[in-house]
Amino acid sequence: MSSAGNEKTLKAGLVGFGMIVDETYRPFFETVHETALYQRSTGPVEVSLDAVATRTGSRAEKYLAERGDKVGGFQSFAGENAIEEMTSTGLNFACVASPDDRHFDSCKRLLEAGTHLIVEKPSVLKLQELDELVALADKNNVTAKVVYHKLFDPDHKKMRTLVYDNILKHVNSGYCSLLEPKAISGKQFAQWITGRNPGTYVAVHYIKLIDYTFGGKLKTVTATGQRGLVGDKDGPTWDSCQLRMIYEYDSGREAAFDIHTSWVTPDNFPGYVEQEVSFRFDNGLWNGHSRKRGVECTVEEKTPFELKNSMNNHFNATFIEPWNERSQRGYGIEVIEQFAKEVAEIEFGGPESERQARLEKIRSLGYNDLSADRQTVATVQALEAILEHQAAGDPDCVVRVNDEKGGLVLYRPGSDEAEVLYDGTV
Ligand SMILES: NC(=O)c1ccc[n+]([C@@H]2O[C@H](COP(=O)([O-])OP(=O)(O)OC[C@H]3O[C@@H](n4cnc5c(N)ncnc54)[C@H](O)[C@@H]3O)[C@@H](O)[C@H]2O)c1
Repeated sequence: MSSAGNEKTLKAGLVGFGMIVDETYRPFFETVHETALYQRSTGPVEVSLDAVATRTGSRAEKYLAERGDKVGGFQSFAGENAIEEMTSTGLNFACVASPDDRHFDSCKRLLEAGTHLIVEKPSVLKLQELDELVALADKNNVTAKVVYHKLFDPDHKKMRTLVYDNILKHVNSGYCSLLEPKAISGKQFAQWITGRNPGTYVAVHYIKLIDYTFGGKLKTVTATGQRGLVGDKDGPTWDSCQLRMIYEYDSGREAAFDIHTSWVTPDNFPGYVEQEVSFRFDNGLWNGHSRKRGVECTVEEKTPFELKNSMNNHFNATFIEPWNERSQRGYGIEVIEQFAKEVAEIEFGGPESERQARLEKIRSLGYNDLSADRQTVATVQALEAILEHQAAGDPDCVVRVNDEKGGLVLYRPGSDEAEVLYDGTV
């Protein structure tokens, strides 16, 4: 694909080149390189992956050697100054897909360079960090967004539609679970797993789903977890955890949500990444299950390792289309394409004199804007603090939101002392 003759080009950068890049960013950049991006307001816009910044450069360079032509090649930067070297090539937007606890530093440096940003979930681990990124995006007239692809899952979209249209009325309670195989904690993330927990990594999908779908005000967060498989039974690394959030709605009525996650399910479990949601409303129930909605397939000597028994063909899958072209598509890729369209809209969707108005419109999209990620980040911050206390021999803490002592306040059972995790209003 050549961009000759089309002056509308978005130059992109990518931080990290691991599992999620392989599943979503790589197919997005390969497809858009082939097809460009279309919207009526912008006309065709080329999107080129120009630079990649990683810790060592090895995976990015392997890809470049094997199939770099699929994206037209890019510059690979590694080491301490990789982000600065990457932004000096002049980027319009950048995607951050490094490990969870390394997002903030990269995002800050990208926003300082005036680059539109999209970061993998969880955006950041503390509200203080969120405040800094939102202020930087504001100052430099760019947008800062986060990827929650489960909001694009057709089943979750349908539930939100029924809530939005007031067909399902007032949620009372919910239970969600997401179980990852042992290979994730044991192999894939072995390099950065110490001190981490599966709740921050995946419960965050459901925290956002609940926060965005039902609205309301977060009031209380409690959590616990188990150890002993990934790390020491008394150490800081978690096998599984259980989180509870209490919300209050405009009516004054409350709802409770429990989210259970683990990354130690046996690798030969047919459910693979097993996902379940169950919500109870005043007038109804919504039950969703990744295996029940899906496919069950067995192939001798291939399942469940090389091929999965229950594949999520909605998230991201490779296909032969009915017209015999190969493709890779799904909601995991759609969510990145939508962000690229939003950036294209800001930069090319009308006259320069109206850019600010377009930027503000895109920033007002609560599904992905960092400014609307407050209650989700607050829950993650609370979860991390509660687990940290538990690992230090101080279990069963409770975090309350916006009480008289602060925005996010941790209380230990049997103690009058309060630990303020975040001063401002959540
Ligand atoms: N949306 C989803 O469903 C989903 C699924 C998996 C992962 N993720 C998220 O994507 C992110 C990455 O996860 P992954 O599964 O790809 O991890 P991974 O371990 O497979 O890859 C991490 C990548 O980041 C790079 N890296 C590490 N430290 C870095 C640094 N300081 N600067 C630049 N690059 C650095 C590594 O070189 C590697 O390329 C995480 O935030 C994770 O939560 C999202």
